[in-house]
Amino acid sequence: MPPANHDLNQAARARKDEFYTQLSDIEKELRHYRDLFAGKTVLCNCDDPRVSNFFKYFTLNFERLALRRVIATCYKNTQPDLFSTNAAEKGVYLIYEGDRNGNRRVDPEEIEVRPLRGDGDFRSTECVELLKQADIVCTNPPFSLFREYLAQLVRHDKQFLIIGNVNAITYKEVFPLIVANKMWLGPSIHSGDRKFNVPDNYPLNAAGCGIDEHGRKFIRVKGVRWFTNLDYKERHEELPLYKRYTPEDFPRYDNYDAINVNKVSEIPMDYDGVMGVPITFLDKYCPEQFEIVGNEYSLNIDRGRGYVNGKRMYGRIFIRRK
Ligand SMILES: C[S@@+](CC[C@H](N)C(=O)[O-])C[C@H]1O[C@@H](n2cnc3c(N)ncnc32)[C@H](O)[C@@H]1O
Repeated sequence: MPPANHDLNQAARARKDEFYTQLSDIEKELRHYRDLFAGKTVLCNCDDPRVSNFFKYFTLNFERLALRRVIATCYKNTQPDLFSTNAAEKGVYLIYEGDRNGNRRVDPEEIEVRPLRGDGDFRSTECVELLKQADIVCTNPPFSLFREYLAQLVRHDKQFLIIGNVNAITYKEVFPLIVANKMWLGPSIHSGDRKFNVPDNYPLNAAGCGIDEHGRKFIRVKGVRWFTNLDYKERHEELPLYKRYTPEDFPRYDNYDAINVNKVSEIPMDYDGVMGVPITFLDKYCPEQFEIVGNEYSLNIDRGRGYVNGKRMYGRIFIRRK
């Protein structure tokens, strides 16, 4: 009997939870925050330390970033050298406090491995205790638990730099953080797709799958973004604007008091009212230049979307020049 749709969806979701971030993507993003890590404890709490490039990045760059401590927790896996298989019931956590023997390498004996009582779920009491010890949390959390994951970070008032899907912007738990300037997008990924490694048993016939130069399977994922509350310089650079407002180029919505702008690069330089722009605006958002007024959800817009001359628009963010 073919599996029910529900099971297939669950399997697909579980598989998406096992996408592993490439070291080069972590390096490209972390470059922007170098000065913010000195003296800090970093927690990677969805990271099998033996395969996570987050753990690898922070241990390799420990001295350069002048870190205090790196902690990584590993969910349901006690097997070395494998991708997380979720095979074990227990988790472990690892602590690294720098190069003790001065050989400028990360030696296995410098990494302390400790058992967890439970499975290493980031929501468990013991993992929350580790969260409390952390200054900055940095990881690619399971796709299916993104909302819960972020909510926990906010509840504990943590600094964070995490990977998620751009659509998360629109979640009702996420968008208010962006409006309140408590979270924004990181600078290194603004479009296209990113390669993530996948476990060996991942079906190669899946769209966007391939094998990299190290013989490891990967999948290309679209819509990936970094979400953070760590500040960086480029975020304060204003988007250059060149278009002038005309009522013909920027018609008003039928059901909301704003003009519609189809391309972020064409935001008019001389319009002072509210403008509906594509959600990719957030890739260019400079808080000194624009104020975010809301989205269809937060503004309670009739029929859930802006309409222009009877035509339904894509999801929008409503902004105003400062
Ligand atoms: C998208 S993968 C990313 C792994 C790693 N952070 C990286 O970027 O390479 C998410 C990881 O979270 C683990 N995970 C799933 N559910 C979890 C939970 N409830 N608590 C902690 N980790 C979990 C998965 O096993 C997987 O290793």
